[in-house]
Amino acid sequence: MNADRPPPAASPVPAGLLPAAGFLLCGCQGGAEAALRERAAQVLPAGRPAAWRRGLVTFRLAGGDPEAAAAGLALDDLAADLVFARTVIHSLGQVTGADNPSLAAAVVERVGRSGWQGVHVWSRAGRPGVAAVDEQVAAARAAVLAACGLPSETAVVAEPGARLLDCVIDSPNRWWLGWHHAAGLPGRWPGGSYPPAARPLPAGRVSRAWLKLDEAIATFELPLLRGQRAVELGAAPGGACQRLLEAGLRVVGVDPALIDSPVAGADGFTQWRMRAREVPLRRFKGTDWLVADMNIDPRSTLEALGRVATAEDVRLKGIIATLKIPHWSRAAELPAWLDAFRGWGFQPRGRQLSSGGREICVVALRAPVRHRS
Ligand SMILES: C[S@@+](CC[C@H](N)C(=O)[O-])C[C@H]1O[C@@H](n2cnc3c(N)ncnc32)[C@H](O)[C@@H]1O
Repeated sequence: MNADRPPPAASPVPAGLLPAAGFLLCGCQGGAEAALRERAAQVLPAGRPAAWRRGLVTFRLAGGDPEAAAAGLALDDLAADLVFARTVIHSLGQVTGADNPSLAAAVVERVGRSGWQGVHVWSRAGRPGVAAVDEQVAAARAAVLAACGLPSETAVVAEPGARLLDCVIDSPNRWWLGWHHAAGLPGRWPGGSYPPAARPLPAGRVSRAWLKLDEAIATFELPLLRGQRAVELGAAPGGACQRLLEAGLRVVGVDPALIDSPVAGADGFTQWRMRAREVPLRRFKGTDWLVADMNIDPRSTLEALGRVATAEDVRLKGIIATLKIPHWSRAAELPAWLDAFRGWGFQPRGRQLSSGGREICVVALRAPVRHRS
């Protein structure tokens, strides 16, 4: 056992692992609830949707279900498989109260004040970065920290392994309660939302796509190396290319539209001003990373990616793709989309990033070649 990790405290559940029975609570993008339920039917068959509201779905794990017990899934792994879940926590029901201090008192009465190493407070429906939401969350968090006897300056981004109390604001008088161990990065962020996504775009960055790629790099721990070459399909106005340049890569942006001047004139940047399918395949030789962020149907994006990923003389290390979801009903195609990456010899992982819209980010690294022993 890692000595830095806190003891499992009062819970009988091993750190982060699913219990055989009980409730899980998932936070998601507002509107993604049905897509999340459908995905859960595929990857968490032992879970039955229990309650859902905008931005939140709970699942009941069947009591004594051997499948659930045997699964032994970590919450982080489950969140990754669910794709549309930003966070997955153990649900402890709801509390009500007239104001933040009485809600916080009800929380402590329900779950105890000791054993918590941090508090995640988030709003199920309100977006971080909206002033009124941020103020509501800050006030609720201050009340819970005080009620739990934790310092007011307790970091918002949790330490790895911390045992966290989750308070999810449903309305000013009702919170959902839960807990989890912070393991991987999204589990250390309140509600699984990338903290910089709640702040204004850093100065000089040309589009929100800078932030999306920044979140993807952090979330998937992308092994981008200085000197590698990336080609982005759908590059204008240039935010993602800018982030890749900052990581030290040589970057080509493919787009019929113009790239903004700070990126267009940057050292190491080239634009091919055309549509993706018009680029001769030989030009992709030597590309390490294929990035795509085109505002077209996901099937067309996959066609454009597959053309390059399977081309002779092209040996990609990985693909970073945004698949726009034109209508939520199309989310049902997710397994087929992921299979396409597998068919080209890559291992895909997907996530609906907190800085993105109605879309998913798929990161697919080349699958290791298996040698016969
Ligand atoms: C969401 S924007 C891309 C934002 C960009 N990644 C950034 O970092 O700023 C979508 C872009 O896809 C481009 N696009 C659409 N279809 C395309 C195609 N077939 N080939 C290349 N680019 C395409 C559009 O011109 C548009 O600039």
